[in-house]
Amino acid sequence: MKTSQDLVKLGKTEIMITTVGVGTWSWGDRLVWGYGSSSYDDADIKEAFEVSLENGTNWFDTAEVYGIGKSEKFLGKFLPSASKEVLIATKFFPFPWRVCKQALLRSLKNSLKRLQINHIDLYQIHTPLGWWSKPKFVSVLADTVNAGLTRAVGVSNFDREKTKLANETLQTLGVPLASNQVEYSLFDRRIEKNGLLDYCHENDITVIAYSPLAKGMATGKYGPENPPSGPRKHMYPTEKLQAFQPLIALLKKLGAAHGKTPAQVALNWTICKGTVPIPGAKNANQAAENLGAMGWRLKPEEVVALDKASNLPV
Ligand SMILES: NC(=O)c1ccc[n+]([C@@H]2O[C@H](COP(=O)([O-])OP(=O)(O)OC[C@H]3O[C@@H](n4cnc5c(N)ncnc54)[C@H](OP(=O)(O)O)[C@@H]3O)[C@@H](O)[C@H]2O)c1
Repeated sequence: MKTSQDLVKLGKTEIMITTVGVGTWSWGDRLVWGYGSSSYDDADIKEAFEVSLENGTNWFDTAEVYGIGKSEKFLGKFLPSASKEVLIATKFFPFPWRVCKQALLRSLKNSLKRLQINHIDLYQIHTPLGWWSKPKFVSVLADTVNAGLTRAVGVSNFDREKTKLANETLQTLGVPLASNQVEYSLFDRRIEKNGLLDYCHENDITVIAYSPLAKGMATGKYGPENPPSGPRKHMYPTEKLQAFQPLIALLKKLGAAHGKTPAQVALNWTICKGTVPIPGAKNANQAAENLGAMGWRLKPEEVVALDKASNLPV
């Protein structure tokens, strides 16, 4: 369960989010996650939503492209009966044909319809494709706040330079850049090396860590003898799975010392680094386990041990 240390400000805004949010990419996605196959169904997704709230989270991350709108629609269906107030983060995708600022406003209004709400708590540009990291285009995010359609705005997959430009652009318009959502886990520490994590910390920009379980690899359930199927098979070939083994062994050892699972330790490490992870959950068990990353902290020396064990090729 979460404690007061597990409630943090979203960037420079007054919005308080829990240190663990829930990622909903798999809610309706066939291609990568196999929605529609026998492994999980709509009832599992509904339970994942309810159990997530029972286990202390207060926010969900989605995107217009997840399941081609299905993920937002699931949330729209669940929100009216939610057991408490829920914050929603969603994203605009800069498809190549979206070449004017109005495209973002149209897309935002469609997200609101699918979500069946009248404002979005955090609206993000999914990736800096095309013109969508240029000041003229980023500035439309400020328009959405001023129009009352969003409470806070952020970016995703922006590197240090693009984040700096977006931050400065929005600053001149009096709206803070609340967050940057990027890949970050013990299995992918590029943002520590390329200066992005430091820049965000220095400028009060929340780093939302996506794929914080390395798409399930951090749970220890996959390995060279038991590789993942589907597209993940190609993302994580045998050599990578082999190279992960010493780190997974350490996650298990530290977990045992705290009465926690490897997934909970891996997520806690991202929190100890000052980021907020959004692990994906396909069912109630995964949701409950992942939210058990809140309410406790690894010891500083354990974080150092994980740092040393996780200097892996990405
Ligand atoms: N902004 C972006 O470009 C971007 C990109 C990627 C993701 N994201 C966001 O980040 C969220 C999380 O990232 P992700 O879904 O890529 O990866 P992740 O959170 O690292 O891994 C999620 C997957 O791991 C497995 N899993 C999760 N919890 C588990 C548990 N406790 N025990 C066993 N297995 C467990 C599940 O798949 P299996 O059961 O099939 O193994 C689940 O779908 C997404 O949902 C999305 O909101 C954003």
